[in-house]
Amino acid sequence: LALSISAGAIAKPLVIAHRGASGYLPEHTLEAKTLAYAMKPDFIEQDVVMTKDDQLVVLHDHYLDRVTDVAERFPDRARKDGRYYAIDFTLAEIKSLKVTEGFNVNDKGDKVAGFPQRFPMWKSQFTVPTFAEEIELIQGLNKTLGYDIGIYPEIKAPWFHRHEGKDISKAVLKVLKQYGYTTKNDKVYLQCFDANELKRINDILMPEMAMDLKLIQLMAYTDWNETMVYNGDKATPYSYDWMFKPDGMAKVAQYAEGIGPWKPMLVDDKSTKTNIIIKPLMAQAKAAGLKVHPYTFRADEGRIPSYAENFDGMLDVFYNQVKVDGVFTDFP
Ligand code: G3P
Ligand code: CA
Repeated sequence: LALSISAGAIAKPLVIAHRGASGYLPEHTLEAKTLAYAMKPDFIEQDVVMTKDDQLVVLHDHYLDRVTDVAERFPDRARKDGRYYAIDFTLAEIKSLKVTEGFNVNDKGDKVAGFPQRFPMWKSQFTVPTFAEEIELIQGLNKTLGYDIGIYPEIKAPWFHRHEGKDISKAVLKVLKQYGYTTKNDKVYLQCFDANELKRINDILMPEMAMDLKLIQLMAYTDWNETMVYNGDKATPYSYDWMFKPDGMAKVAQYAEGIGPWKPMLVDDKSTKTNIIIKPLMAQAKAAGLKVHPYTFRADEGRIPSYAENFDGMLDVFYNQVKVDGVFTDFP
């Protein structure tokens, strides 16, 4: 009986704290990461972008204006599109900015809190952490508390950094190596939306640096502009269509350990509570031997699919029916 139970047991999916405990505190602050740590997820996520002086900081966007006071502090430093790009600022300048909850700017130019019920806007001294500082926080807590919580960095917009003359992937690998993350046995997944960049990391950069990390291919739809291709100065969206073809997952498996799809790529919206329609991508990924870590599991109203009714129902569908290997969640 014991044997049959263990043979049939389904491993609990990995919990990946998405931008930290970002359902409670401003995303990617060390405070949100510390709270995430206390919730004992398997991994804590870092989105990583580069500064003018080649430092790596943990920030979701490659611009600073959604979560900081950069527009007030450096009003003349926006580009033509009105954005304040991290790559135009030194680490010292970025460190001098205040971080708050993500906000939107309305027609009148007022800043409107994205999460009005959460941490009061601007009433804090939150700052943008470096990638190294965040690793030191997590490794320090691991040593002190005896847990083994991993990191899950995402290389953000390598196409943009390359166009600006920066090799963000090499810089990320260098920091990972410096902190002891070098093999597939180390508790790290390295993720990116850019398939060509992941292939380059797998085929060229990691062999050159004597590294062999687990890679995750994030998946977007072509019209999201998650990945761009430059022709001179003109950038056009990279097409993700090949990943959804029957042989797409086998191609991904040549360089990656798993995929990070948007969760509606796995379950059809036409699903009902009694009839969950699982999309072909799941079986294709499993047939190719890939792990599947969908994003993003949130409790916010309006983001729960009707077939799932609530957050627990959504987890139940993805854990027990789709049988994913892990979930990115704002609520670790
Ligand atoms: O990395 C998984 C998920 O975080 C991708 O979405 O936009 O939150 O980085 P995003
Ligand atoms: Ca991410």
